[in-house]
Amino acid sequence: MASVLNATKRYMRPPPQYAHDWFSPLRSVDVIAGQITKFTFMGNELVAFRDASGKVVVLDAHCPHFGAHRGVGGRIEDGCLRCPFHGLHFDGEGQCVKGDFVSDPRSLRHIKSQPWTVHEVASSIFIWHGVDRARPARPLRFIEPDFFAGWSTPVTNAGRPLAPTNIFFPTENIIDIQHFYAVHNWTVNSIEQHPAEAPDGSFRAIMHMTFRGGAQSPYALVRRLGKAYTSAFDFNIAVLGPGMALSRAKLGPDQGDLELMSIILITPTNLTDCHIRVVSSVKQRFEGRLAKLARRVLGVSPEDILARVFLAIATKDFDGDEMIWTNRRHLQNPKPLPDDGPIVAYRKWCERFWPPDYLPDLHAGQAVADPPEYSLPASAS
Ligand code: FES
Ligand SMILES: [Fe+2]
Repeated sequence: MASVLNATKRYMRPPPQYAHDWFSPLRSVDVIAGQITKFTFMGNELVAFRDASGKVVVLDAHCPHFGAHRGVGGRIEDGCLRCPFHGLHFDGEGQCVKGDFVSDPRSLRHIKSQPWTVHEVASSIFIWHGVDRARPARPLRFIEPDFFAGWSTPVTNAGRPLAPTNIFFPTENIIDIQHFYAVHNWTVNSIEQHPAEAPDGSFRAIMHMTFRGGAQSPYALVRRLGKAYTSAFDFNIAVLGPGMALSRAKLGPDQGDLELMSIILITPTNLTDCHIRVVSSVKQRFEGRLAKLARRVLGVSPEDILARVFLAIATKDFDGDEMIWTNRRHLQNPKPLPDDGPIVAYRKWCERFWPPDYLPDLHAGQAVADPPEYSLPASAS
């Protein structure tokens, strides 16, 4: 084992918090037409708003004119972001197009905030974080046509903070077979596909598990009662990146053969902390009079209701993980066991998400500072 675990390998060193990939720091409901949403993402202070067409726009919070925070006192006018300091207006491309007190708009051409690349899908807002914010190095899987065809409308909730947590800890758990017993009290009945890189580039595993209700509860009574609710399920899980994992769970016939999709989203908020959120969807299978009646009377389908139930269960199921992640330390020379899962292969796979200029020894787990976001025009210096 010692020869496999060569601590001089870069991928075994402390990983960066500010990895390069797609991340989802916001839900769709967090960005309301006519309002500005301030948020922190990868240590950057950002603002989000909807332009005149309703498209989500994400810009650096600080104005390229003289650095005012456009989320503090700024407002949205005609789908443009108006800075409170000198009244300059920025459109959906981040271009300054108008100034309340500017006579010739042509003088504004050099004032632009380079927008972040954004996709809104699955009730969530995804942002590309990479070398070039305008050119994602990888596609976002969820925008593939028909990705959600046959599934209920994806639902999400506010999620939960993980402070402190390294961005790579949550996804590393997915290949960490033993933790499913120890932390979640799930039983791994068999492994159909051991965790490994799949042809689509994800890191994937297929396992047959048994879930027991209330297994993580601190109360003995809840744990005892929970034993009455056990459910076998097929668990197909793929890590797409440090901030995204996609799971498909198929329950047994006693649970109605339900199929559940969960997207697990992890986002660094700063150098030490993360946030985790789940998106849930249920395969549409209820037809007939009762289902139609529910849709008509309640405005939601049985699948919508089940998706919300599974979302609550999945969010709660991070209780044990949170305890481990927020107190864990990254070891560059851990002592794995054959039963752990392919931790070394996984860390090697993860290295593709490291910023190319990240120096693990120098930064010791910290992020490389982002390059300057914009420079002042020559006339302003
Ligand atoms: S600092 Fe924003 S308009 Fe001047
Ligand atoms: Fe876990």
